[in-house]
Amino acid sequence: MASKYQAPRGTFDVLPEQARARRRLESAAAGIFARAGYEPIATPAFEDTALFERGVGKSTDIVRKEMFTFEDKGERSLTLRPEGTASICRAYLEHGMQKLAQPVKLSYLGPFFRHERPQAGRYRQFHQLGAECIGTDSPLADAEVIMLLSDLLAELGVPGVELRVGSLGSFEARRAYLEDLKAHLHAHERELSKDVRERIDINPLRAFDSDDEGTQGVMASAPTIVERLEGEDAEHFSEVRALLDAAGVAYVVDATLVRGLDYYTRTIFSFVCDRLGAQSEIGGGGRYDGLIEQLGGAATPAVGFAAGIERILLALDEEVPAAGRDAFIAVTDPEQQQRAMTVAAQLRGAGVSAELDLAGRGLKGQFKHADRIGARRVLILEADGGAQLRDMQTGEQRPVDPGNLVEEMKGEGE
Ligand code: HAM
Repeated sequence: MASKYQAPRGTFDVLPEQARARRRLESAAAGIFARAGYEPIATPAFEDTALFERGVGKSTDIVRKEMFTFEDKGERSLTLRPEGTASICRAYLEHGMQKLAQPVKLSYLGPFFRHERPQAGRYRQFHQLGAECIGTDSPLADAEVIMLLSDLLAELGVPGVELRVGSLGSFEARRAYLEDLKAHLHAHERELSKDVRERIDINPLRAFDSDDEGTQGVMASAPTIVERLEGEDAEHFSEVRALLDAAGVAYVVDATLVRGLDYYTRTIFSFVCDRLGAQSEIGGGGRYDGLIEQLGGAATPAVGFAAGIERILLALDEEVPAAGRDAFIAVTDPEQQQRAMTVAAQLRGAGVSAELDLAGRGLKGQFKHADRIGARRVLILEADGGAQLRDMQTGEQRPVDPGNLVEEMKGEGE
């Protein structure tokens, strides 16, 4: 019977058959992070609301519309984390990580929360994996974090991926540019969508993201920051591109690339996948040289990315078969159940995967169940203390030494 309760809107259950592909992804990511020296970090699922207001930016959709904010019993305003970078910078400062050898390279994986309109690839609770490289402004760091995600997608075999890179310049360059962009938008106000028009002075960059035709016309002739990069900003961007070229990472320069968070400076990037429909961004990130200072620390350059785990899984659209069991332990008589339990524990302790009947089935039912769970062998514990081993593939059955079951099973499994 269906339950009268359902998972909340925009959330989902990860069922065992889906958990396997997820686990494969998570362990591939863990391997890539570990080999590049990005140590794992975990931060709380909720933080002070002010951290995200300050970190992510008050003009962003995330802060304006999408945060799950609540008051705790002590009347503190808390927010379920909509992203990870602000929390990690908070942790970096809180734990004095600026005193460690720089850069500090961290990786993470976990649930994030945004009150968005749910659709394929967009959820209210979703999962990200990500990496942050804090304490260096070297373009090598930008290229390295981009390569981490590029390597992960390649290792998993995600099809149809394109990497787009852009640059927003330093805060100062961006400020001057934004004034020009606003002037351009004001000059064409009547052609813009209402939403874009209302936000000209709040967040003009988002106009590049609009799917409104009139707005797109205006944006086609808008100045872009990439074409205006100067001095060190231009040099930094060209070094990042040269490093990607040297590493053989394919990309396109997208002068109109924008991202939904305010903290970015200089490099921004986005991995999109043509298999995903409207929510086509698998992951992205960029440099955020001003964020740590914004949160009260000393000026500390940093760069990182996050990728949506559900989006990667959607793009992969694969089923990972259940791993079979090495053994199923059957009993000819219910009195052997205690012995079966002990043998199961011994086998598991020795690294052999083993299940036993927990449902009081007869011998025939136990064999059927062993077959259903994909057991390669069935160990039959007999009432007289003896034991037999049946190979489920060949049907061959032979007596085994009951005093030496672990060795018998281990030897054959190899
Ligand atoms: P973001 O672009 O907001 O960046 O999110 C990163 C990825 O999370 C997106 O590319 C997308 O795959 C996934 N994602 C975002 N929202 C949802 C959703 N509602 N449902 C499913 N997946 C979603 C950040 O969060 C930055 N913290 C990235 C970063 C790290 N920048 C520097 N360091």
